[in-house]
Parts: sequence; C-alpha cells; structure tokens
Amino acid sequence: MSVQIGNIDLGEFPLLLAPMEDVSDPPFRYVCKQNGADMMYTEFISSEGLIRDAAKSRQKLDIFEYERPIGIQIFGSDINSMREATEIATLAGPDLMDINYGCPVKQVACRGAGASLLQDIDKMVAMTKAVVNATHLPVTVKTRLGWDDNTKNVYEVAERLQDIGIKALTIHGRTRAQMYKGEADWSLIRDIKKNPRIQIPIFGNGDIDSPEKAAAWRMEYEVDGMMIGRAAIGYPWIFREIKHYFKTGEHLEGPTIAERIKVCRTHLEKSVAWKGPKTGIFEMRRHYASYFKGIENFKEFRMRLVKAPDMAEVEEILGQIHDTYATEMA
Ligand SMILES: Cc1cc2nc3c(=O)[nH]c(=O)nc-3n(C[C@H](O)[C@H](O)[C@H](O)COP(=O)(O)O)c2cc1C
Repeated sequence: MSVQIGNIDLGEFPLLLAPMEDVSDPPFRYVCKQNGADMMYTEFISSEGLIRDAAKSRQKLDIFEYERPIGIQIFGSDINSMREATEIATLAGPDLMDINYGCPVKQVACRGAGASLLQDIDKMVAMTKAVVNATHLPVTVKTRLGWDDNTKNVYEVAERLQDIGIKALTIHGRTRAQMYKGEADWSLIRDIKKNPRIQIPIFGNGDIDSPEKAAAWRMEYEVDGMMIGRAAIGYPWIFREIKHYFKTGEHLEGPTIAERIKVCRTHLEKSVAWKGPKTGIFEMRRHYASYFKGIENFKEFRMRLVKAPDMAEVEEILGQIHDTYATEMA
C-alpha cells in the first residue's frame, strides 16, 4: 500500500532523510536523493529568524526541483511567529511544512520551542492549528515520546494533532530527557500505529543504522515508513542498501572506494556551488571522516583533507586516495 501525505504519493514504505542541523543542507540532500531517499526535510529553521529576515535562516529555505518531495521544517515558541514563518516558508515552494517538537538542546527546548512543547500539549495543539491554517500545504510533525520517563504523552499528542489536521507524524523513540542516549524504544510508536483512531502515516525514527535492523523493526513495529538521520551522514548509500535488502533479503555490496570518492566529490562540488568556495570547502570538512570511515591508515589523508584550503588541493588529495586504495579495495 502506497503511503500518502495529502496529495503526495510516497510509494510503499518510504525512507525519509531526517532533518539535521548543519547537515541536511542542499548538497547533502543531493547525494541522499541520488541514493534513494524518498522524502527529505530541510534542517530546522527558526521562525523568529525567518521573520527577522535573517540571512542564515532565509538561505535554509533554498530548495531545488530534483529534491521533491521536500518539506521545510520550522521551530519556535510563539504561535504568531510560527504562523508568520509558515506563510514565509510556504512561498519558498516546498511540498509540505513540518514542525519540530523534538529538539532537545537547551538553546531550543529551554526557550519554549522544540521538545519543550511536549510539556504543554494545549499550546502545541494551538500552535499546530495556526500552522495548518496558515498554509495550503500538508503539515507534518516530528516529535519524541515525551518530555521524560514520567510523561510519555505522544499517544495523546498523535490523536490530538491528527484531529486538527496534520497529515503525518514522525516519532523519535526517545524522550527529551534522554537526548541521544540509550537505545531508541519504538514500542510506543507501535501502540500509536495500532490505535484504531489513527489514520495518518506514522514514521518511526531513531537508531536505524543497517538493512537488517530496518527489516526487523519494520516487521516488529509496523510503522508506515522510517526516517534515517545519523546513519546517512557520510553514508548516503544506506537508503539504497535498505531498499535492496527489503526487496531481495540480500546485502548490496557496500560502495567501492572509487564510489566513495565520487559521491564525496559530488557533495563537495554542490557545497561549493551553493555556499561559495570558502564556506563550501570549510563546511565540507566535517563530512570527510564519515565518507572514508573504516578505511585503514586513513588518518593522514583525513588530516590533509580537513586542512586543504581550496578545491584544487582537495581534488589532488582525493586523487591520491584513489591511487592508494582503489586497486586493493575495488
Ligand atoms: C547533527 C544533528 C542535527 C539534528 N538536527 C535536527 C533538526 O534540525 N530537526 C529535527 O527535527 N531533528 C534534528 N535532529 C534529530 C534527527 O532528525 C533524528 O531525530 C535523530 O538523529 C534520531 O535519528 P537517527 O538515530 O536516525 O539519527 C538532529 C540530529 C543530529 C544528529
């Protein structure tokens, strides 16, 4: 059965790329899309930033045709600001709007935004309603199980947000108090999925990092699709590997070194094209270790990559990496 969000058809059991601050920008989304992500989101964007016309927030609204379907994710603590930010973001032309009620970090959650709304469901409902009414686009929500172990209220959240018109819900199987610690627990996500009142798609999120786990949790928790975050960083092949495993029960070969270099280079080129050479090269530095994870004796190359000041030097190092490893690992 195909999963629908409004008029968007995502096919059977879609794999979503998680919104990730400073990671899921257009260059990264490009390589994830190439490798099978079915739907993607921008990183979260501050509603106050958008209203102030802050250049950094506005830049995050950039989306490209090949990314569709794509959602813009916003966060904030003030209902009016969220409404206004929704109107601004809608003009950027995404396929849907998403609200972040999951972010646990202090600067967000302790200022009444992100996961903090899990402590005030009435306000969360009012905020969501304001967003739903401010756009013609489908609205989705991403949240956690609850604020802490004593208040795992996502079951109620799911019902109430569905009732006021959200079109899908993604749940990260941790509480705010857990931050990113411990293992994600999807059992409550399964309870919501089994609730006969719930009609909207429910996506599971948290700790999917291999095709085996994706297949096992798909069976065990009966969700409509999965959202993948950290496992895609430096490894966008995770999407195609999971899909292949679902289809055949067999492991797709991992990327060759030549393929790693190719995708890393594409990511870098897109980064420079979108951000300009200085920022593009600088911000790419955080990705090299992930692209070449697990390769023996790589440290020296990595050190050189993160110091290389321009495209020509990065290219030269990538060429040397190819010459050093390609034949032995091809
Ligand atoms: C670096 C980083 C940045 C993140 N930024 C966001 C964000 O902007 N919006 C959001 O909803 N979640 C954000 N998250 C949470 C992820 O979307 C996801 O819920 C979490 O990482 C669990 O999924 P995973 O185990 O597949 O990584 C971020 C996570 C990481 C690691």
